[in-house]
Amino acid sequence: MSEPISLDKALASFSEQWSPRIVTAVNDYDVRVAKVEGEHVWHVHDDTDEFFLVLDGELHIALREPAGERTVVLPRGSVFTVPRGTEHKPYAPVPSAILVLEPTGTSTVGDRHDEVPDHVHATTGTPLGSGR
Ligand code: NI
Repeated sequence: MSEPISLDKALASFSEQWSPRIVTAVNDYDVRVAKVEGEHVWHVHDDTDEFFLVLDGELHIALREPAGERTVVLPRGSVFTVPRGTEHKPYAPVPSAILVLEPTGTSTVGDRHDEVPDHVHATTGTPLGSGR
């Protein structure tokens, strides 16, 4: 049976950074939450857009677009969609929490990526309540 999910409780249930937890699904999309701080990795999703909502803190997303490189800054409460095929690298200057909406099975490091540093979990998401 489906039950309401507290995002505060979901976020309190784990501590790993850049390791999203799947809190629910909408049709064939996952709703994932993640704790983030510092740099992620340059990557690209060839076939899907990626939706971000900043729940707490601040998220910067560097983008490599045809016109050049730029960074969008998302304060708490902001949303942004990275278009499919656009290389991007999230960065959080302070400990932050984000919600991501993307098709089930989407890798956090995309279809192509730079070398994944140890602090970044290359994953398609972990069900809430199970360990990394
Ligand atoms: Ni991405």
